[in-house]
Amino acid sequence: MATCKNIVIFGATGMTGLATLAQALDAGYTVTVLVRDPARLPPEHRPARVVVGDVLNPADVDKAVQGQDAVIIILGTRNDLSPTTMMSEGTRNIVAAMKAHGIRKVVVCLSAFLMWDLQKVPPKLQPVTEDHIRMHRILQESGLDCVSVMPPHIADDQPLTGDYTVTVNTSGGSRVISKHDLGHFFLQCLTTSEYDGKNVYLSRHYAKV
Ligand SMILES: NC(=O)c1ccc[n+]([C@@H]2O[C@H](COP(=O)([O-])OP(=O)(O)OC[C@H]3O[C@@H](n4cnc5c(N)ncnc54)[C@H](OP(=O)(O)O)[C@@H]3O)[C@@H](O)[C@H]2O)c1
Repeated sequence: MATCKNIVIFGATGMTGLATLAQALDAGYTVTVLVRDPARLPPEHRPARVVVGDVLNPADVDKAVQGQDAVIIILGTRNDLSPTTMMSEGTRNIVAAMKAHGIRKVVVCLSAFLMWDLQKVPPKLQPVTEDHIRMHRILQESGLDCVSVMPPHIADDQPLTGDYTVTVNTSGGSRVISKHDLGHFFLQCLTTSEYDGKNVYLSRHYAKV
């Protein structure tokens, strides 16, 4: 596949987003972010281009996607577990912008709960899971080259190892992945078409902290 140089990250100010942004900059990507509040970007990790806007605004999304080689979607709702369509509506806008600009590659952060029967997902997590399911469907139907990453619990307090197990269509050996290793994998996906069109789970057994 063509090498990706210019990438846009949606959700760059979130827990996993910040960990991904830092590694993307270290790896030499020219990074664009779409953020609601640029003050949430740490001074030491300044992307090349900051589009201030909202993923629910198609014009903001179009501006962010223009000129990119690939897209990383790490949208989330932080501690708000109430019903939402933000992630799926945002994804719909991103897909439209990608098609308008002829961009094919997208890596998306979803959840391991998509590998479960929805009825078995803890009830309080079902509303957010339902929006992840809508996101997944939009991307699957888009015909784009999409890697659907379905992480287990994302640990805030575990290191970057770059050494984790990748399994397709099935959960791996652990119930946790560090936010840094997850970001590492998103960037790995930009260098290969191996996982395009696939549902991917990451796992690793970390030493206790
Ligand atoms: N935490 C876990 O253990 C876990 C496990 C599996 C899957 N997941 C899923 O993984 C994904 C990433 O999780 P996370 O905890 O790293 O994310 P997070 O901390 O919740 O960050 C969410 C990001 O989305 C952005 N965002 C929200 N609404 C937006 C809008 N309208 N326009 C533009 N940006 C918007 C936020 O921006 P602001 O800074 O402006 O708020 C933030 O950058 C989520 O979908 C989550 O459900 C989480």
